[in-house]
Amino acid sequence: MKKINFLLVIAAFTFNTGFAQQKKAVNPAQQKMNTFINSLMSKMTIDEKIGQLNLVTGGEANTGSAVSTAIESKIAKGNVGGIFSMTTPAKIRKTQEIAMKSRLKIPLIFGQDVIHGYKTTFPIPLALAASWDLPLIEKTARVAAQEASADGLNWTFSPMVDIARDARWGRIAEGSGEDTYLGSQIAKVMVRGYQGNDLAANNTLMACVKHFALYGASEAGRDYNTTDMSLDRMYNEYLPPYKAALDAGAGSIMVSFNDINGVPATANKWLLTDVLRKQWGFKGFVASDYTGVSELINHGLGDLKTVSALSLKAGTDMDMVSEGYLTTLKQSVKEGKVAITQIDNACRLILEAKYKLGLFDDPFRYCSEERAKNEILTPENLKFARETAAKTFVLLKNDNQTLPLKRSGTIALIGPLANTASNMPGTWSVNADMSKIPTLLQGLTEVAGKNVKIIHALGSNLIADANQQTYATAHGRDIPRDNRSEEEIIEEAVKTANKADVIVAALGEASEMSGESSSRTDIGIPETQKKLLAALLKTGKPVVLVLFAGRPMTLKWESENVPAILNVWFGGVEAAKAIGDVLFGDANPSGKLTVTFPQNVGQVPLYYSHKNTGRPLADEKWFFRFRSNYLDVSNEPLYPFGYGLSYTTFDYSNFKLSSNTLKPEQKLTAYVTITNTGKVAGEEIVQLYTRDLVGTSTRPVKELKGFQKISLQPGESKVVTFNITEEDLKFFNSDLKFVAEAGDFKVFVGPNVRDVKEVDFKLVK
Ligand code: BGC
Repeated sequence: MKKINFLLVIAAFTFNTGFAQQKKAVNPAQQKMNTFINSLMSKMTIDEKIGQLNLVTGGEANTGSAVSTAIESKIAKGNVGGIFSMTTPAKIRKTQEIAMKSRLKIPLIFGQDVIHGYKTTFPIPLALAASWDLPLIEKTARVAAQEASADGLNWTFSPMVDIARDARWGRIAEGSGEDTYLGSQIAKVMVRGYQGNDLAANNTLMACVKHFALYGASEAGRDYNTTDMSLDRMYNEYLPPYKAALDAGAGSIMVSFNDINGVPATANKWLLTDVLRKQWGFKGFVASDYTGVSELINHGLGDLKTVSALSLKAGTDMDMVSEGYLTTLKQSVKEGKVAITQIDNACRLILEAKYKLGLFDDPFRYCSEERAKNEILTPENLKFARETAAKTFVLLKNDNQTLPLKRSGTIALIGPLANTASNMPGTWSVNADMSKIPTLLQGLTEVAGKNVKIIHALGSNLIADANQQTYATAHGRDIPRDNRSEEEIIEEAVKTANKADVIVAALGEASEMSGESSSRTDIGIPETQKKLLAALLKTGKPVVLVLFAGRPMTLKWESENVPAILNVWFGGVEAAKAIGDVLFGDANPSGKLTVTFPQNVGQVPLYYSHKNTGRPLADEKWFFRFRSNYLDVSNEPLYPFGYGLSYTTFDYSNFKLSSNTLKPEQKLTAYVTITNTGKVAGEEIVQLYTRDLVGTSTRPVKELKGFQKISLQPGESKVVTFNITEEDLKFFNSDLKFVAEAGDFKVFVGPNVRDVKEVDFKLVK
């Protein structure tokens, strides 16, 4: 008997009402802060003010060519405003004590890249996004804040909200993927998770949204490269997630490295003042990225003094590591090139952040050894990390119900990623303690239990070329090399595989093959691993590919030849056990891609919300002359946005709208019935898209406007409802006005962007 539940949770269409600035009256708390800061600033020398604008690194993770030196003496002189990449209450207390002995005793702010969890590392952000589970993602940020603040920190360089549509770009791993709407929702909940309701609480972190702006559109997917973008694309597709994070209250923002239409972001006054301050009304402070100020010299904007003045005047308040502000701004003031008011403004914003964090009340409020001992890597956090990881995996293929595996017989676990702990947590996991992370071999063995025998062989090196393997295993994420020939290593693995009932191949990218400075032009599984996979398939045994990936990968051959593919991204400290949970069916995979997987790298950038062109390819065609297509590959992706399978199946029926016209101030309701038609319970992510058929500007062929994640028992049905209002149909037109235009629209609903049902309506104004 089918059970019908009416799901009352309505998709929250809170897409902002344009980018208009919101003015707020000064409240008593703000007045109190202003009085305090006015009084403090009246005592500050110009050197002390400039000191507040100087952000130094404590050296636990360096990503640039320069590092900070003589930190302690600079702090003592009041020449430092903040420090990042230094952890533990002991070290932070010691450093803060130096600041407390400086003339004005202004506390330091302590930051770090707490990107996807702290010591309890969660899956990489791209994986977290694949859960489409906003409360879950918010909780990961909350747990991260709890742990990081227990270890002395009060500021995180997260969330990274750069829309990324080029799979070659390694930093696609650090964000939520290609979609503006989903990216904006995730940006908001992450800020909420970090900051909570009270920045001054000792268990919250100030968020630093990054990288402002358009970093994800770096040309050719090469890191730090130029971006050049129309205002239409910028306002409609790339800027909204930054705005959403700021509207959620993020206290700071980090400028990106890239050139934007001829002016690098760090010196881009239009971006940092006109858009950020005037249009959006942002009241927090702006930090450069790592040596972002001095890199303007290489961009060709002048010497250190010139670029420092340019950056400050554009709106970059804090200089990360370059020390251009520290060493040149005073002289620029003397020469009349920088006004003291510009230094005052920046200094005030940084002092305000410290005030909001409660650092003037108690500079040591984040330094509790007791908390560090009791609140980090707790059993509850680890349990949550394991459950979270399982919700991020995406089942790409599962022919003949190869998965889940039986808890009997022999499993051959083969591959260079099968027995390496340091490659489990993924990029930006600087705080992960590798000695506490199980390898896949260990995790799988634990989850499998006594009735399963697991045998293992390396099977291949990560990459045949030793040099390339060195680049791909940076930051201590080594995979020992086996110096035997490729054939010998494979032969040994095939022997092992022949003794098993099923083969699990742990292949793909090592953790540092995505992330910063890890762009790739070949986004497939490295060739030597593919040879291994082919040899394993030849044994005739069922093969499950457990794919480690920090980006969309090209898997055409694999999708045609391997019966089951589970994409596990980089799942954090408990990834190994979570992979076991899913492989054995203790957890049912429910993740869905938030980035399009191309057939080949030549299709990149490939994303679902593209424009139609004047010569679109007719749906049924693979190639048609004088149409917008390729000679050698269809326009289709390999796996579309929103795609992911489950161990059960879902049916979509009765898709209808409450009306076929929508008027301003009214709402339409879309209904769809989802039924679990399989044999096990499962979660489904129901997606709603719209298309604006006629506009004064061209509009994308589909735009995500809502989604809901529901849970269904076998045979159970639920009616999922979505509301659509005029607000949801707004976009920035060619005058950059945020409007909805009357006319015909389509609404689509489905399990991914490709396999949808559609209905029409009209917006009548
Ligand atoms: C990265 C930022 C990071 C910063 C500090 C830079 O290289 O681009 O994302 O926050 O380093 O570690």
